[in-house]
Amino acid sequence: MDRESPLPPDLRLPEPRRSGGVSLQDAINSRHSARNFLGVPLPLADLGQLLWATQGLVAEGRRRTTPSAGQTYPLEVLVVAGAVTGLNPGVYRYVVCDHALSFVSEGDQRADLFAATMAQAEAADAPATIVITAVYDRATGRYGTRGITYTLMEAGHAGQNLYLVATALGLGTVAVGAFREEVVRAVLNLNVEEHPLYLFPVGRPLPHPA
Ligand SMILES: Cc1cc2nc3c(=O)[nH]c(=O)nc-3n(C[C@H](O)[C@H](O)[C@H](O)COP(=O)(O)O)c2cc1C
Repeated sequence: MDRESPLPPDLRLPEPRRSGGVSLQDAINSRHSARNFLGVPLPLADLGQLLWATQGLVAEGRRRTTPSAGQTYPLEVLVVAGAVTGLNPGVYRYVVCDHALSFVSEGDQRADLFAATMAQAEAADAPATIVITAVYDRATGRYGTRGITYTLMEAGHAGQNLYLVATALGLGTVAVGAFREEVVRAVLNLNVEEHPLYLFPVGRPLPHPA
């Protein structure tokens, strides 16, 4: 490996747990948004579990944990990592077929990311933020403008999975839709056909008021 670039180009995530844990009913019943986080790192296995729930492959190996209109799969998932155990701070893209991360850029960019959001700076304390993006062309190529609607529906499916698995892991998250797209686009180094839809800061939450 090039000694100038100590980060590996690709990083395989721990195998996701596919059974056991908190019951689905309990997770649904406990789900809520969390906007304040304890300053503890996020274990890599938990990050992997969240990414898998958002867009990973199910046991059969072709389909994913969330449905997709006509299997067009217009969503992509990225991570802005600041304090994840075993992962250098940086931006990474989730590689669905390998359950791995591919390196986008290095450095802790959480403050830059949350500068894009309106008055939600406290979420910048989250150890990582998962970002769901859309490549609409994959869906509009088959469904025309209806493909945009389908893509947004798919982001809802993925986001709810993320909320529920975060809850099951004792983590907190909040769906953040209010941000300046051009700032998020710059942090993630997105090209023109990829659009950020949702930010999900994740981490150990401060206790929720009863
Ligand atoms: C499409 C969408 C966009 C949202 N955007 C934001 C946001 O930008 N900032 C935020 O703090 N919460 C955001 N939320 C979270 C809602 O504020 C939250 O779900 C709502 O207050 C209900 O609280 P609960 O999730 O704890 O039930 C968003 C939720 C959705 C579904």
